[in-house]
Amino acid sequence: MTTAICRQLGIKYPIFAFSHCRDVVAAVSNAGGIGVYGGALNTPEQVEIDLRWIERQVGDKPYGIDLLLPMSYVEVSEEEKQARIPAEHRRFLDGMMQRFGVPPLDPNADQLHGLLGDTKFTPEQNAAILELVFKYNPKVFVSALGTPPAQLIEKAHARGMLIGALAGKAKHAIRHKQAGVDFVVAASYEAGGHTGEIGSMVLVPEVADAVAPLPVLAAGGIGRGRQVAAALALGAQGVWCGSVWLTSTESDLLPVMKQKLLEAGSDETVRAKCFTGKYARFLRTAWSDEWDRPEAPAPLPAPLQTALIADYIERIAASAASGKVDGSTGAGALITSPVGQIVGAMNVSLSAREIVREMMEEMTEATMRLTEVFEEAG
Ligand SMILES: Cc1cc2nc3c(=O)[nH]c(=O)nc-3n(C[C@H](O)[C@H](O)[C@H](O)COP(=O)(O)O)c2cc1C
Repeated sequence: MTTAICRQLGIKYPIFAFSHCRDVVAAVSNAGGIGVYGGALNTPEQVEIDLRWIERQVGDKPYGIDLLLPMSYVEVSEEEKQARIPAEHRRFLDGMMQRFGVPPLDPNADQLHGLLGDTKFTPEQNAAILELVFKYNPKVFVSALGTPPAQLIEKAHARGMLIGALAGKAKHAIRHKQAGVDFVVAASYEAGGHTGEIGSMVLVPEVADAVAPLPVLAAGGIGRGRQVAAALALGAQGVWCGSVWLTSTESDLLPVMKQKLLEAGSDETVRAKCFTGKYARFLRTAWSDEWDRPEAPAPLPAPLQTALIADYIERIAASAASGKVDGSTGAGALITSPVGQIVGAMNVSLSAREIVREMMEEMTEATMRLTEVFEEAG
């Protein structure tokens, strides 16, 4: 099976795997799809280490990179952000840490990679990461938020890369097309991470029609082959999945977090602002319940909410990583991760290669079933 974008990239399967975990990226590229490395949470030094590692693993197979571009966030210094955080919000979080018995960070311990990563989204840091995109050899470059600027599109094209951007609405997709991107990722309501308000059943055909003949990848709620078949039927040329890799054997999530995802049902996510200040879908845990309490302050607008919670999330991650908590008490009850509604189908930890294989097998079965239906109908 193949689509035009698969042929352009030289990949066997129309599966684009978004992941912050380099092992997942390399595994999916090696399994016949394409891994796209989310660089937004890492320092330039770490991004460089990871890109070099991925290139060694995948050889001449293609991989991609996804970044938050400089023009898509508010340029505010860390000091300014901290100064704008109301004392009430810190009191609320201090109280939460106390009630859940989350100890302060050990200043002598190595910094963990918390769920919010260790980037400060400064213009300098972003510029340094962007340089790496052109120093290394990704075949795909995706803008996480907003339309990529014209010079960047030109530069990517000059290097033979395909450049794409995420869109939660047809009008955003049209803006991306007018700027000259090569494909659009239609990110629907069901998706993990930042999400729009439109379900995939409506969004994918709407975006596909709006930007035709540009290729569209369907994102949100896809983790099984029947969903891949449905996405192709809706007019997509491939699928862009983020959540499904979180419970893979390669995923670097903390074991307690992985276990919570394996046990969660599809009704156990929330779309709320208490993670980043913008609507994002993540696992419903004590963290989101706490922000829903009547006495809780309203989440701050982006990027202040992330600046507010970063240290507390780090504390929660450090305590959860200590192995002294289970998923239902203390930091284990609070810990969460961006994840989409597909979490309900993520019940067994498989390797990324097995996930790709199962998806393609189920897609083939679904397609054959449909063919039989049409044949019977004459
Ligand atoms: C843990 C996690 C982190 C994410 N971080 C980013 C990101 O940094 N950049 C980005 O473009 N999308 C990010 N997303 C969204 C994905 O690109 C993708 O749109 C989404 O995962 C698709 O829906 P699904 O989660 O149902 O597969 C993230 C998603 C998850 C689950």
